[in-house]
Amino acid sequence: MINPASFFNVSYGLYIITSGNKKSRNGFIANSVFQVTATPPQFAVCCNKENYTAGIIKETGVFIISALDKNVSSKFIGNFGYKTGSKLDKLKDVEHFTGKSGAPVITENIISYIECKVNQTVDAGTHLIFIGNVIQADILNNKKPLTYDYYRDVKKGIAPKNAPTFIDKKTLDAIKQQKADKTPLPRFKCPVCGYIYEPEKGDASSGIIPGTAFENLPDDWKCPVCETPKNDFFKLK
Ligand SMILES: Cc1cc2nc3c(=O)[nH]c(=O)nc-3n(C[C@H](O)[C@H](O)[C@H](O)COP(=O)(O)O)c2cc1C
Repeated sequence: MINPASFFNVSYGLYIITSGNKKSRNGFIANSVFQVTATPPQFAVCCNKENYTAGIIKETGVFIISALDKNVSSKFIGNFGYKTGSKLDKLKDVEHFTGKSGAPVITENIISYIECKVNQTVDAGTHLIFIGNVIQADILNNKKPLTYDYYRDVKKGIAPKNAPTFIDKKTLDAIKQQKADKTPLPRFKCPVCGYIYEPEKGDASSGIIPGTAFENLPDDWKCPVCETPKNDFFKLK
């Protein structure tokens, strides 16, 4: 069995990967970034072969990993993660400076960056894994980084086809359903006698089968111990 819900429990951050030189420049959103070794410090990024940036990294041999600020807007993510630089200059209205390698270092909505020189490219089918040695790295501010989990759960963001973690809508809905099925139903307490209604047990004395949510109990259901009406029960956290 391969349950794609397990893939969601692999944690990532979210980054902009930029590359370029005097002639061309670009950037895209990536979650698939990781440190390969400590000595020497090496980092890797997994880049779809169809990304416009892939060609620029191949040509220049450099890439910059910039960690996104947790409070970055969806519009900013949309510019780098849903549009392609083959059709527009994504960096036109975005604050940046030129790094040691000649590639653009974004300073807007970014908390830190790591500039790398490619030393190896692995062909992984749809994607290329660029591995690079760190040639410069710095912190820009003390804001918090955006994680993929926060992007999905709080910002309600998804990833497009080019992302290695792409999951189609049907599978995504099935994963949500699986999660909901595994979330225990809330318990309710009687304010008079302290009896606790536990959905997984139901209430045999009134013919309520196990698995019945409190909300689905009949309106005239009463506490099996002291007969306090359903409406007086309160939810337990
Ligand atoms: C949340 C998110 C995560 C993404 N992760 C990756 C990734 O790890 N690798 C990748 O190749 N594309 C990833 N993408 C897709 C690219 O950012 C997207 O295809 C982009 O438009 C490519 O830009 P380009 O053609 O200008 O290079 C991701 C997009 C989003 C929104």
